[in-house]
Amino acid sequence: MRTPLIAGNWKMYKTVSEAVAFAKEFRSVVKDVSGVDIVLAPTFTAVHAVAEAVRATNVAVAAQDVYWEKEGAFTGEVSASMVREAGAEYVIIGHSERRRLFGETDVMVNRKIRAAQGADLTPIVCVGETLEEREAGATLAVLDRQIKDGLDGLTPEQVAALVIAYEPVWAIGTGRTATAAQAQDAHAHIRGRLRQWFGADTAEQTRILYGGSVKPDNTAELVREADVDGALVGGASLDVKSFGEIVTKSRQAVV
Ligand code: PGA
Repeated sequence: MRTPLIAGNWKMYKTVSEAVAFAKEFRSVVKDVSGVDIVLAPTFTAVHAVAEAVRATNVAVAAQDVYWEKEGAFTGEVSASMVREAGAEYVIIGHSERRRLFGETDVMVNRKIRAAQGADLTPIVCVGETLEEREAGATLAVLDRQIKDGLDGLTPEQVAALVIAYEPVWAIGTGRTATAAQAQDAHAHIRGRLRQWFGADTAEQTRILYGGSVKPDNTAELVREADVDGALVGGASLDVKSFGEIVTKSRQAVV
């Protein structure tokens, strides 16, 4: 049985003080929720302060990216061990905004996953097709490439320990969610590939989240799907009430 995971990706929103105020309010909203892993992903500047604010609670912290080198002359970059020491336990890797705006490739995603796991961080690896790719009937081929190249050379144990987030690019920040059936189709395909490439045990253990315009009122139908193990939430995670509702609705959907 896979424990559902709900992660809030704050992108480039919230200063340190705003992030800490959110974390303090949010930790009491979700304090009685069990059976769901809950993660907040603030900007780098707020990782440490948010980790302190949720220390010893059921809320964990993710960074939104890491560089793959341990240290060195890489101005502006942050290493996996640095965010781990700052209190993060997870890291989002290969978000479509990083791929599209900052030129991240599957090879870079692969390096970042290795660096993250080497520093004891759980990677949340984002994959997903653009609208153009979907309309051209290329969705599954795009997912295959992103997964094959992104996870290249990892052991079955390493794959079982990471999290995949299926985020169709056309659904991110657009208000246009994939239907539960579209999400389930893509998730089942991804799990099938994991089975083929990394074995049945790994495929059963790896969590696959859905992301793209997740809101309190569509959470339950998505998370109820057999291969949807939670959500990566952007816009709706910026508000304590709506993100709290997403967490509780996902809990209800899986019991
Ligand atoms: P959204 O973003 O929920 O605002 O669509 C999701 C994401 O980018 O992870």
